[in-house]
Amino acid sequence: MSDFLHFTEKRLRPLSPLQSKEALWEAASEVISRYDAYQINQILDELQSILSDSEEGIHRVTKIVQSLRVFTRSVKDDEKSSYDLLDLVHQVFLISKNEVKYVANLEIDVPEDIILYCNGVQIAQVFVNILVNAAQAIKSQKRYNMGTIRIVARQTDPNIIIRFEDDGPGIPKENLSKIFEPFFTTKEIGKGTGLGLSISYDIIVNKHNGSINVRSEYGHGCVFTIVLPIVSA
Ligand SMILES: Nc1ncnc2c1ncn2[C@@H]1O[C@H](COP(=O)(O)OP(=O)(O)O)[C@@H](O)[C@H]1O
Ligand SMILES: [Mg+2]
Repeated sequence: MSDFLHFTEKRLRPLSPLQSKEALWEAASEVISRYDAYQINQILDELQSILSDSEEGIHRVTKIVQSLRVFTRSVKDDEKSSYDLLDLVHQVFLISKNEVKYVANLEIDVPEDIILYCNGVQIAQVFVNILVNAAQAIKSQKRYNMGTIRIVARQTDPNIIIRFEDDGPGIPKENLSKIFEPFFTTKEIGKGTGLGLSISYDIIVNKHNGSINVRSEYGHGCVFTIVLPIVSA
C-alpha cells in the first residue's frame, strides 16, 4: 500500500492542473498500471492476514485462492470469457469482506443463471471498487447501526443491469458530475486515490460497451447502475 501511494505521490506531485492533458494522462496511466499490480498485492496481503486469523480459518483461504484462480485465468490484456455473474459477485464479496463486514450487511439479489461475457479481472475490479466505496462511505458516518448494501442484477435482453445500492451518506449534488474524473476524491490522503471510478468508467464504457451511472440524493445513499450488453462467446 505505502509503496503504491509513494509512487503515486512522486509521480503526481510535480503536476499542476495547468499542464497539458497529455502529460496528465501519461501520469495517470502510469499510476493505473501500478494500481493493477498494487491490487493483486493487496489481495495477497489480505491472504496473509487471513492465514493468521484462526477464527475464519482455512475455509476462507481456500475460497479466496479459488477466486484468485478465476481472476488470473484472464489476467491482463483484454481477454474475455464467460462468467457466472453470481459467482463473480461472491468472489468480489470475499475479497472485499474485511472492508464490508463490520459496517454493512450485504444483500445479494442476483439470479443464478446470468452469464456475463467479459474480462473477469476488470469487472471484478469495478465491483470491488464500488463495494468498497459504499462500505467506506457508510463507515465515514460513524453511525451506530449497520448500513445496508444491496447488489441487484437483472437480465433484460439485450442487456444485463447490475445495481449497487447503499444507505450511506450519499453524494452532494455538486460532486455528482466529478466522481468519474481521475483523481477526484473526498477521502483523506492515504485512503483514496480518486482513481477507482475513473478506471471503472473506462472498463465499463470503453472496454465493455456498457454504461455506468450514479443516482444519489445527499443524505440518502447512492445507487450505481451498470448496464452491460449481453454478448455471447
Ligand atoms: N457509495 C458512495 N457514497 C458516497 N460517496 C461515494 C460513493 N462512491 C463514491 N463516492 C465518492 O466518489 C469519490 C471518488 O471515488 P473513487 O473514484 O472510487 O475514488 P476514491 O475511492 O479513491 O476516493 C469518493 O471519494 C467519494 O467522494
Ligand atoms: Mg474508490
